[in-house]
Amino acid sequence: MTDSRNRLFGMSAKAKEHLVKRMLERRAKRPQQGPTARVSAGSGGSGAGPAQGDAYDAFFRFDQLPGYHELHVQKAAAARLGIANPYFRLHERVARDTTVIGNREYVNFASYNYLDLCGHEAVSSAAKEAIDRFGTSASASRPVSGDRPIQRELEQALAAIHGAEDCVAFVSGWATNVTTLGHLFGPKDLILHDALIHNSATQGALLSGARRLPFPHNDWEALDAILRRERSRHERVVVVIEGIYSMDGDFPDLPRFIEVKRRHKAFLMVDEAHSLGVLGEHGFGIGEHFGIDPHDVDIWMGTLSKTLASCGGYIAGEGALVEYLKFTAPGFLYSVGMAPPVAAAALAALNVMASEPERVARLHERSTLFYALASEAGLNTGHSAGYSVIPVIVGSSIKAARLSNALFERGINVQPIIYPAVEERAARLRFFMSCAHTPEQIRSTVSVVAEELARLERKPSRARAG
Ligand SMILES: Cc1ncc(COP(=O)(O)O)c(C=O)c1O
Repeated sequence: MTDSRNRLFGMSAKAKEHLVKRMLERRAKRPQQGPTARVSAGSGGSGAGPAQGDAYDAFFRFDQLPGYHELHVQKAAAARLGIANPYFRLHERVARDTTVIGNREYVNFASYNYLDLCGHEAVSSAAKEAIDRFGTSASASRPVSGDRPIQRELEQALAAIHGAEDCVAFVSGWATNVTTLGHLFGPKDLILHDALIHNSATQGALLSGARRLPFPHNDWEALDAILRRERSRHERVVVVIEGIYSMDGDFPDLPRFIEVKRRHKAFLMVDEAHSLGVLGEHGFGIGEHFGIDPHDVDIWMGTLSKTLASCGGYIAGEGALVEYLKFTAPGFLYSVGMAPPVAAAALAALNVMASEPERVARLHERSTLFYALASEAGLNTGHSAGYSVIPVIVGSSIKAARLSNALFERGINVQPIIYPAVEERAARLRFFMSCAHTPEQIRSTVSVVAEELARLERKPSRARAG
């Protein structure tokens, strides 16, 4: 008997998969246009009065948003291919090296809990004590409601680990980049960023109105060439890079970037979201890793949501920079101050990190083991340096989603990263390492990944039907 799921519309399973894949690629490339996003001439578009008939239908219904339509095409395609949604899984306890989802325990590679500080007794207790003393909210922006000692202590501790004069903490890491870049730079300026920079930096650049140019990933020579050509046309120039790149797990040659930026009198901003707690002997980040003079980086940016087991972001640097942001950056001035328990958790996590460098050493050891075993098994780990983030590149979004689901069936929780977050041919699973992962968990995970990937590559149609 023919399986109707496999032979829909008379097509073979393979042909169907190919078609859906092409459809997704075409849709993703198409300029944004809603299904009924048209207003005919003279139908009220001139502001002369209310719209006639259905002329504005596409513009006052959320289900007519082009992106919403797109989302549903993708969901329908995934359902047609029998791929379960691997996102928004519901965790039933703290997600550490293991987690519980749907009453089942999984080995977990989907949390940024690099040093296992989320769920750490001292971190949770600090948050609870802060609630008892200050309540759950700062209740207004800091200029209005005033500071809490815990916010200032956190900022001082963050400034200290970066060797900076001062620091200001924001309620979101994403908003930190958006408001900092958006506020510091303007139309006469130039923002140069690594081609793989995080969305928060590109959004900040857009907000600023500055000219924005990406340079090839980690390529300081290409950056130098752009600066030689473009520097003189702009007032302020900033170069934005990451301490560890969140999709690939590699890192820039920081001393080279410093040398280039200094020669061209450009600012250098380093986003330490994924390198804090990971690089350097004490986890103080890429500055500690390379042993540079911290003043050579003009803007240290970091998040509290990864290693520091909390929520928020910060900018550390010279006094003038921090003072200016504190008094004028919209994302600080017009947003609530960091909630006391959130600040207390991050500070406690920072203290554990600084006093227990063995956690960082163990993270390095476990990541190195994963990386070595994955390479031995012939898995494509891209450019990963084998620290906190290790991708396994599989080359197609459909394959990445299927592999993630197959691993979930076998007790491993790891997320697929698919187009458009990465190029289609670079679709991958992304493993976040934790110092709490045991060598046994790592060994069995790598071997199950290799096995399931080989199964998918051997028998694509049967794997889908299953
Ligand atoms: C490099 C980078 N910068 C900034 C952010 C935003 O940080 P948050 O998630 O804490 O808002 C992220 C988030 O993953 C990131 O990877």
